[in-house]
Amino acid sequence: MAKKKRILVKFSGEALAGENGFGIEPSVLSYIAREIESLLKADVEVGIVIGGGNIIRGVSASEGGIIRRTSGDYMGMLATVINAVAMQEALEHIGLDVRVQSAIEIKEICESYIYRRAIRHLEKGRVVIFAAGTGNPFFTTDTTATLRAVEIGADYVIKATKVDGVFDKDPNKFQDAKKLDVISYDSALAENIKVMDDTAIALAKDNRLPIVVCNMFKKGNLLEIVVNGGGICSIVK
Ligand code: GTP
Repeated sequence: MAKKKRILVKFSGEALAGENGFGIEPSVLSYIAREIESLLKADVEVGIVIGGGNIIRGVSASEGGIIRRTSGDYMGMLATVINAVAMQEALEHIGLDVRVQSAIEIKEICESYIYRRAIRHLEKGRVVIFAAGTGNPFFTTDTTATLRAVEIGADYVIKATKVDGVFDKDPNKFQDAKKLDVISYDSALAENIKVMDDTAIALAKDNRLPIVVCNMFKKGNLLEIVVNGGGICSIVK
């Protein structure tokens, strides 16, 4: 039997907030759920990591000097659990099988992260949402996504963003910004193109895990990228 495609998609917490800029917008949850459903229907195994920036960001929380960075980061990890539970509800609402696994034990709310169990869930066609970051402060959810993608043997990690890919300069500021279709890990690191933080890129590089950057709000784009090898995106490899 042909090996199934397995991917890990990282959504930012901010994306869940929609126009509100804060909290969780149900219509965004539903939209993402449908996009994930299309992947499952195409027989793709899907892991998900969601950030927590729509609720709290560790770095920002610690900027006032009252909350220490470590505590701020733990607060951020808890925010990702809230988002994971919301996403689980949205996916289950349309009939998908979902398991949330947390890097920090919160057993009343969800399973703990157990690598071998995560693999079994994926093999059974369940979406696995990896919550609470890596369980450690000073690591981003981009690093979590890369780490989990490597652990579960994903074909690549997809960073689902609000832009079409990686540009040579900020597309929101410069009209002549050009999208780069393929970028090497080294130039992503050296040229300070903030595709992901350096830790995440270095981990991907060490493990030859491609990073795909794409626009999550283009309907059908995820499916096009994963199943047909097309779509609008940039690839760091
Ligand atoms: P199989 O082993 O393939 O049957 O997978 P399963 O996930 O259905 O089995 P299990 O009996 O482990 O889990 C049943 C339900 O309980 C699932 O929704 C799990 O996510 C949930 N569950 C399992 N372990 C925990 C836990 O430690 N805490 C919480 N809150 N839920 C758990």
